[in-house]
Amino acid sequence: MPTSSDDGPSWSDIADWYDELLVAGSGPHEHAIECLDRLLPPIGEGTAVLDVACGQGLAARHLANLGALVTGTDNSANMLANARRHAEQAGAEISWVEADAQDLAPFADASFDLVTCQLALMDIPDLDAALRAIRRVMRSDASLVFVIGHPVFLTPGARMEPGADGTTEVTISGYLREHFWRSANPEGVRRAGNYQRTLSTYLTALAGAGLRIVEAEELGATGRLAEERPAYAQVPMFFSARAVTVF
Ligand SMILES: C[S@@+](CC[C@H](N)C(=O)[O-])C[C@H]1O[C@@H](n2cnc3c(N)ncnc32)[C@H](O)[C@@H]1O
Repeated sequence: MPTSSDDGPSWSDIADWYDELLVAGSGPHEHAIECLDRLLPPIGEGTAVLDVACGQGLAARHLANLGALVTGTDNSANMLANARRHAEQAGAEISWVEADAQDLAPFADASFDLVTCQLALMDIPDLDAALRAIRRVMRSDASLVFVIGHPVFLTPGARMEPGADGTTEVTISGYLREHFWRSANPEGVRRAGNYQRTLSTYLTALAGAGLRIVEAEELGATGRLAEERPAYAQVPMFFSARAVTVF
C-alpha cells in the first residue's frame, strides 16, 4: 500500500489547527468520545490507561476525569505540546510520552489495564504492527477500546445526499481499493491523510495480533453532530469496538 511519504501536511503541521478545531467544539470529536465511553470497561482509581495516538489529549483528559491513571502517547511533538498545555490548565495529572504507535517502544510488556485509540488506527501506516504493539503492552485481562472512521461510509469517494422521506442516500466508491489518500478539503482533518482499509482488514489484523472483539457498535449521531450533519443519525460516521486479549 502506498504510504504517507508524499508532500501533503503531516499531523504535526496541522496540530495547532486541529487543537483550535477541538477547542471550538467539534461534533465528530464529541461523538467519538461518546462512542469510546459506551464501550469502556469499569474504570477505578489506579486503572492504568494508555491512550495511543492521543493527539491534543481529548480522550486522555476524559479518561483522567473518570479517575484513570492515564498516559497519552503520540508521535507528534506538536500534538503533545498542546496536550500538555491543556492538561496543565485543567490540573489533570497525565503522563505524555512521544512514541510511534507501531512499536510503543518506551512501554513495558503487560503494563496497562486499558488501551484506547480514538480516531487514529486509520492514520497509522502499519496497522498490524500497531495492533501487535498494543497487544504487547496490555495486561492479560486488559481491554482495547478503539474508534475509527467507518471504513465503509468514509471512503474517499463517499457522498451523502438527502433521499426521499427523510432518508439519506449514500454513494460509496473505492471501498475495496486500500490506499493512502488525502482529502482535498483545505479545512478537512483528512488533509493530513489516512489509509482506506476494508472492515475485514481491521478484523483480520485484530485477530492476527491476538485480540478478540467482544463488543462493537455503529452509533448514530446525537447531540452536536446530529444537529450539524443530520445524515449521520442514520449512517454511522464511526465504527467502535472493545477487544480483549486472546491467550
Ligand atoms: C485524527 S488524530 C486523533 C487524535 C486524538 N486521538 C483525538 O481523538 O483527537 C490522529 C493522531 O494520530 C497520530 N499518529 C499518526 N500516526 C502515528 C504513529 N505512527 N504513532 C503515533 N501517533 C500517530 C497523529 O499525530 C494524530 O495525533
